[in-house]
Amino acid sequence: MKHPRLRLGVNIDHVATLRQARGTAYPDIRDAARTCVAAGAEGITVHLREDRRHIQDADVYRLRKALTCPLNLEMANAPEIVDIALDVRPAEVCLVPERRRELTTEGGLDVAGKRRGLIRTVRRLKGRGIRVSLFVDPVPAQIEAAAAAGADTVELHTGTYCGLGNAAAARRELRRLKEAAHLAAGRGLTVNAGHGINQDNLPGILEIPYLDTLNIGHSIVCRAVFVGLSIAVREIRRGMNAYTGGRR
Ligand code: PXP
Repeated sequence: MKHPRLRLGVNIDHVATLRQARGTAYPDIRDAARTCVAAGAEGITVHLREDRRHIQDADVYRLRKALTCPLNLEMANAPEIVDIALDVRPAEVCLVPERRRELTTEGGLDVAGKRRGLIRTVRRLKGRGIRVSLFVDPVPAQIEAAAAAGADTVELHTGTYCGLGNAAAARRELRRLKEAAHLAAGRGLTVNAGHGINQDNLPGILEIPYLDTLNIGHSIVCRAVFVGLSIAVREIRRGMNAYTGGRR
């Protein structure tokens, strides 16, 4: 049986990181999203962090208005952010754990341990027609808890697998991901995966069964620097060629 096309959600947080580094109006996050979609992405993901280090509230509203594809809003289960999600109504929310000082999301949600608060948020979001995904480690108890919490989707945390240099450890982690995917699909959950995925580790990721969507960000933005740098230099070089020594 032919599997439906594996979808790509591009996380464009780090386009906003570049903008925030200078406090400029560019690069426009909507242009980034349109470019990703024109290149074949089926969805756009942004993480509205509590510290607003990259994506800002206005970005989320602007994307929701401008995008023709689904918007996936990653966020912590924090009251202020939940209120924004309920107002914006993205196609999907992915609930993630968040620590202020982390460089990026460091692990999956403890769904089993935080069940009560999560169930309430899942219910509120779904009540507004928003699909809810829970970002979890490939641990059976977390998958079971996600299903029991009423989630539509689990996003399997692939960061550990992608960060493992040791081949034997990576194989073990990949086995855990495959088993988690199997369990999640058996519980009727949509299975997504994300974190740390790049061209090199993609072949292993593609061995995970039942995948619907891969959410990929950092490696794409990093790669974009190199595939785009030469054109950017050429453009400014060409512009500088108009120099006549300041004399008319
Ligand atoms: N999925 C989730 C839940 C994430 O938190 C992140 C990072 O924001 C990603 C996917 C994308 O990870 P990366 O930027 O490493 O591709």
